[in-house]
Amino acid sequence: MSAEIIDGKKVAALMRDGVRSDVEQWVQKGNRAPFLQVILVGDDPASVVYTGTKTKACKDVGIETNTLVLQDTISARELKEVITGFNEDDSVDGILVQMPLPSHLSKYDVIESIDHRKDVDGFHPMNVGRLSVDQPCFRSCTPAGVMELFKHYSIPVKSKHAVVVGASNIVGSPMAVMLSRENASGKATTTICHKYTKDLTAHTINADILIVAAGQPHLIKPEMVKEGVVVIDVGINRVADEKSEKGYKLVGDVDFEAVRKKASWITPVPGGVGPMTVAMLMKNTLLAAKKSIYPSN
Ligand code: GUN
Repeated sequence: MSAEIIDGKKVAALMRDGVRSDVEQWVQKGNRAPFLQVILVGDDPASVVYTGTKTKACKDVGIETNTLVLQDTISARELKEVITGFNEDDSVDGILVQMPLPSHLSKYDVIESIDHRKDVDGFHPMNVGRLSVDQPCFRSCTPAGVMELFKHYSIPVKSKHAVVVGASNIVGSPMAVMLSRENASGKATTTICHKYTKDLTAHTINADILIVAAGQPHLIKPEMVKEGVVVIDVGINRVADEKSEKGYKLVGDVDFEAVRKKASWITPVPGGVGPMTVAMLMKNTLLAAKKSIYPSN
């Protein structure tokens, strides 16, 4: 068997086309364009690249955006004051504070200071809690993007055994919730593995759907999966590569070339899950502008 490739780049482009035309209609009806406020604390090179990708994607679909760059010495109080200002500003629809934050700032406090109705990342406890009881909410973009891939390719989830490797707040945990809830896109039997899991293969070998978000290059080898598995690789790792001009290449958490021979479907890295995360952020920002999830009264 050689797996079919799940083309996240293509599906994300379709989603962005959809958002672009929805934004156009929204503006034609006399509304202002959706606006996303990005906050970047410090100059972590990866965060600079990620926020650049997000703001470029916004402009591409007609969402207006601004990135406020703050010094990494900013105090928690000062940062919260900045966020409160955006919470109270009716011309701001979505607020995104790029993670990670400098170590003197608590990400929990910062996330909770964002108005949950503007939390387009879906990180606020109100959104996380509503996700877990299956109520309308902003959903974390990466796992929501993975669910879109299943939908696009008509990959069944109901009653399958989904194994999620990695239990982060951003990906693994919400991913497991989305897969296991009793709703139209969920109903999978779901196992979460993490760094304390004793025998990872004992779980991954039973997966019909394997989602890997562990941040470890080539963690998943072919002997760890069963024939016909659907593999979603969320990892993006830089590994040294003399052949590349940059001196490195991007690889996922899955040994793609070897595992694809056993899988039925697989996402590549890059071009799999990554573009879907950005597309979901666009969709969430449009939903925030339209007040679709939290209608105002
Ligand atoms: N850092 C890594 N991924 C993300 C994300 O999806 N949102 C934010 N705000 N920061 C991140």
